[in-house]
Amino acid sequence: MTAFNLDDLKLDFKAKTIDESRQGEALSLDLPEGIESNGKKYYIESYGCAMNFNDSEIVASILAKEGFASTRDFNEADLVFINTCSIRDNAEQRVRNKLNNYGVIKKRNKSAIIGVLGCMAERLKEQFLEQEKIVDLVVGPDAYRNLPELIAEAESGQKSVNVLLSREETYADINPVRLGSNGVSAFVSIMRGCDNICSFCVVPFTRGRERSRSHLSILAEVRDLQSKGYKEITLLGQNVDSYRFSENEKLKGKKLIDLKDSDDVVNFANLLELVAQEAPKMRIRFSTSHPKDMLDDVLHVMAKYDNICDSVHLPVQSGNTELLKKMNRNYSREWYLNRIAAIKRILPEATISSDFIAGFCTETEEQHQDTLSLMETVRFDFSYMYYYSERPGTLAAKRYEDDVPLETKKRRLQEIIDLQNKLARESHKADEGKIFEVLVEGTSKKSDEDHQGRNSQNNMVIFPRKDSKVGDLVMVKILKGTQSVLIGEIV
Ligand code: SAM
Ligand code: SF4
Ligand code: F3S
Repeated sequence: MTAFNLDDLKLDFKAKTIDESRQGEALSLDLPEGIESNGKKYYIESYGCAMNFNDSEIVASILAKEGFASTRDFNEADLVFINTCSIRDNAEQRVRNKLNNYGVIKKRNKSAIIGVLGCMAERLKEQFLEQEKIVDLVVGPDAYRNLPELIAEAESGQKSVNVLLSREETYADINPVRLGSNGVSAFVSIMRGCDNICSFCVVPFTRGRERSRSHLSILAEVRDLQSKGYKEITLLGQNVDSYRFSENEKLKGKKLIDLKDSDDVVNFANLLELVAQEAPKMRIRFSTSHPKDMLDDVLHVMAKYDNICDSVHLPVQSGNTELLKKMNRNYSREWYLNRIAAIKRILPEATISSDFIAGFCTETEEQHQDTLSLMETVRFDFSYMYYYSERPGTLAAKRYEDDVPLETKKRRLQEIIDLQNKLARESHKADEGKIFEVLVEGTSKKSDEDHQGRNSQNNMVIFPRKDSKVGDLVMVKILKGTQSVLIGEIV
């Protein structure tokens, strides 16, 4: 069931964020009521993380207001957008290959405009226009409000670029249109950017400084989704635990020694609780937690509310303290295991998932073994696993040599994958005989006779549909646990 691609491995089917099968997905929507078409169509495809997909929904919302209609067929588009990711070199290669293919668009329609959005646009800026001649428009993640003007500029024959990063932009007032949605689950961005400088990571450079969106606008979006019949939301941020929204503008960005969480500062535990109360019938998930910042308060809120799902995604990256230090992750192996112990104590039913990087600079065989032993100790249910890809401009690229040979990186990654698969098989086997509440998300990929959906623990469950409908919550008894899914029947 599990598809391996060693170059960019994600175990699909249980996506906490955006799985491999959705990378490059083209999305479309109808124009909102009352908006007249301006006669132009755009096509947008997205890569990368859930936040980037959510950004495409913000872009769609901005374009819809201007009367642009969307299409899933780039051949009939006047504007072709690729919302890009820079996280690993192969993510960028994929976009370049796509741009090569899109050369045909210009041959067919000289006035067609090709725009590159997102993280790769931000990383390469004007250089993109020199490297990829077919590109007319380069727009970074904080400049989407400016798209209508940039499009007009490009239409007048000029190449246009806006890659300014902002300290304030959260698109708080823009209700993203739900592209490609199953009408059941939706993403809600609660913050943008990242202030951690993990040495391997390009995100702080492509997304800028961390800023939190007003809790009031988040709650309004949650209410809107609830009124539209959505059943599940995932709160998104690169480091949700550092969410902090202050009503007092003067406090924003200030490092005050005694700035305590008080009535005018909403932290992530507060926000999670507010959302759980606002939408008691909706399931609530969030991603991503950072081990250095995930304290017990968030776990206690999760334990208190039944509608907050029992799964924690806590990327560890490596099981070796010395390497974690080089990665600038600001926690040790012991601290991470302390956080795992807290999860197991406060949320005994919760599943735990993680991210791993194999073959980071200077990683020795012993350090790699530390990662495997940590995996055995924690018994992760699921992981995203990658081998290290040096990113230009990052701390690691400046400080350390990328000295682990590719073959070794791939071999270590394979060992991590093999162990994760074993842990997943064991964990899912242990679920046989249990009964879970499952939110029906759609038809199973394998058979029209079956439905698929996830339990609170974020396991994908497949079962004969009987009279269940998409969006229903059904009780399913697990008959068989495989490496990637649980198979059961409605009881
Ligand atoms: N903010 C989240 C965190 O801190 O865990 C996730 C950030 S990133 C979008 C998702 C994952 O990509 C990371 O957790 C890491 O495992 C992986 N990653 C980031 N930079 C990488 C690199 N240069 N090479 C390989 N994997 C990388
Ligand atoms: Fe990248 Fe680290 Fe920020 Fe995650 S927390 S986005 S890995 S810098
Ligand atoms: Fe996401 Fe890729 Fe950017 S993972 S934040 S789209 S670099």
